[in-house]
Amino acid sequence: MKRDNTTTRRYLSDAGVKQGMHVIEIGCGGGEVTEVLAELVGSSGAVVAIDHNQNALATAQARLRERGIEYVQFIFADITGDLSSLEGFQQEGFDILAGRRVLMYLQDPAEVLRRLARWLRPGGWVVFEESDLTMVPGRTSSLAAHDQAMEWLRRMLTMEGANTAMGFGLPTTLIKAGLRFEGIRAEAVIQGQGTQYPLATLLKLMEVRVISAGIATQEEVNSLVARLDVESRDPAWVYVSDISFCAWGQKP
Ligand SMILES: C[S@@+](CC[C@H](N)C(=O)[O-])C[C@H]1O[C@@H](n2cnc3c(N)ncnc32)[C@H](O)[C@@H]1O
Repeated sequence: MKRDNTTTRRYLSDAGVKQGMHVIEIGCGGGEVTEVLAELVGSSGAVVAIDHNQNALATAQARLRERGIEYVQFIFADITGDLSSLEGFQQEGFDILAGRRVLMYLQDPAEVLRRLARWLRPGGWVVFEESDLTMVPGRTSSLAAHDQAMEWLRRMLTMEGANTAMGFGLPTTLIKAGLRFEGIRAEAVIQGQGTQYPLATLLKLMEVRVISAGIATQEEVNSLVARLDVESRDPAWVYVSDISFCAWGQKP
């Protein structure tokens, strides 16, 4: 399944990420956003990408290496804990603090941003893209199986500690972090008729987590996947599967 980072690229370049900038990225995961950031800042810039998952960092490193990008530094750190691994970087030395789908996993995202903002220069930008499941699945006709699957996934994420309404929470988070909130926008992710990431596929990918959270049994998952497949044969099968919010703010 191919993932599309064009929304992220657009958000970051609209927020002013450009050649020569120095960026800190938190929760870099497998490096998809890191790669976009590295391309936008170019070899005259620098990216420091942080994650607390060694496997994810190794994937990200391999991804950037494959593309011949050498101006990204990866740091293994828990951004909610000890930040001494960042002490070697100049305070107020970065232009941008960015991340995608990471604040939603933090207990106190405002506090994390407030602490990390020490490394941002005055006037530097904070840019965060977060998923929000508050208004999904958006649809015009009944899609009962899709409603059910989305409800399971939302419950599973919530039980795992994720905030599935982080998009709506972005302005308050930035303000609580002591930043000047500048703007927010969102893009809907649409599925159906020829798109690559139907809910049945997503549910199959997540079934171990859904089952181990006690939300459904294997039989119930299989039965729902079959119902999703039936619904997806309707010629009118089009729905909003996610809404990606992006907010940006400035360090005073
Ligand atoms: C959903 S993934 C998103 C990865 C990447 N930003 C993307 O959009 O493709 C969330 C990432 O945040 C990282 N993360 C979550 N909490 C973290 C923490 N406290 N410190 C560092 N990384 C964290 C996870 O390890 C994971 O790689």
